Amino acid sequence: MRMIAYLSLLILLSAVLTEAAGPIKPIPLSIPYNKEKTELGKILFMDPGLSSDKRVACVSCHSFEHGGADPRPVSVGAYGKSGEVNAPTVYNSYFNFRQFWNGRAKDLREQARGPLHNPIEMGMVTEEIEHYLRSNDYYVKAFKKIYHRAPTHDDALDAIAEFEKALITPNCKFDRFLRKEVELTPLEQKGYRLFKTLGCATCHNGINVGGNSFQKMGLIFPYPWSESSPDRYNLTHAPDDKNVYKVPTLRNIELTAPYFHDGSVPTLELALQRMAYHNLGFDLTGEEIEALTAFLKSLTGESPPILKKGP
Ligand code: HEC
Ligand code: HEC
Repeated sequence: MRMIAYLSLLILLSAVLTEAAGPIKPIPLSIPYNKEKTELGKILFMDPGLSSDKRVACVSCHSFEHGGADPRPVSVGAYGKSGEVNAPTVYNSYFNFRQFWNGRAKDLREQARGPLHNPIEMGMVTEEIEHYLRSNDYYVKAFKKIYHRAPTHDDALDAIAEFEKALITPNCKFDRFLRKEVELTPLEQKGYRLFKTLGCATCHNGINVGGNSFQKMGLIFPYPWSESSPDRYNLTHAPDDKNVYKVPTLRNIELTAPYFHDGSVPTLELALQRMAYHNLGFDLTGEEIEALTAFLKSLTGESPPILKKGP
């Protein structure tokens, strides 16, 4: 009995502490990574030679000027083929528990294999990638130095993933507030309170303000679904998984319009309104939208330090 009493006290205490700590964790100011690999990974990330028509690189759909995401509603790949999915940001993706809208890749290394081979993205096969890398002097030297062998497809994935690991955006105003370095404005504070009390934080929480669970889009009022939705159903074929996605990060959200997996929503204000309605059953007032928007803008961090100094 005494044991059980102790245990329940412990559980209660940890719930109180978690609540006191708040639903969002700041991202670290820096993260350990292998410098040589990230330099190679950055060049690979920006190299259109890795696509079948030699015109599409990772950066074509994950723009550094657009918060690591794609300003186009749906991405356009090699030979102008267009997908049906909005490209999420690569910034802070290292902190996501899985990769892709439906989480089909377990980490960044596994993820990078996807676009390289996807016929509507970069459309290459392993042999073509290796042939391309081995016929380039820079790559031959760089891979030899780092991996001690001729360029391989797997080593290229490793270097790209290491570069993406470094794509973190530290020091946003909200993280600095969490570290007690700055105050939020009254409007931002109001937005943060609403974010918690309305229930946004039940799905968007943790270090990435999202990226750590699968949730339904349209929990209260259904959201349109189509066969081509890149959802969990696409992977599991369980009817309950229709319109279930990895919750996207809300970091740098003001930079990454348009919104949602289908890129159908052009502004942040409209995205909040839709979210509150479809997932929580609320019609937000103009003032609530203004406050939530101000809070979400405080999640815009510094450009990843690795992009500041050239390789
Ligand atoms: C033609 C456009 C396009 C190209 C080129 C492209 N991507 Fe993407 N990327 C996307 C789209 C669209 C998604 C979402 C697909 C999905 O979830 O089904 C995505 C998803 C991702 C994600 C997952 C992010 C998350 O939160 O789940 C990462 C990481 C990523 N891409 C990295 C890369 C890398 C690395 C390359 C180059 C090897 C690359 N992308 C090339 C369009 C592109
Ligand atoms: C039940 C879980 C849940 C709740 C509650 C929730 N969200 Fe979301 N949110 C999601 C999911 C899942 C998506 C992805 C939906 C999609 O792309 O179709 C999303 C997407 C978003 C987006 C667009 C992100 C992008 O990159 O396209 C914003 C902005 C957003 N939510 C803000 C909010 C706000 C603000 C609230 C509270 C009013 C909220 N969310 C409540 C699960 C939730």
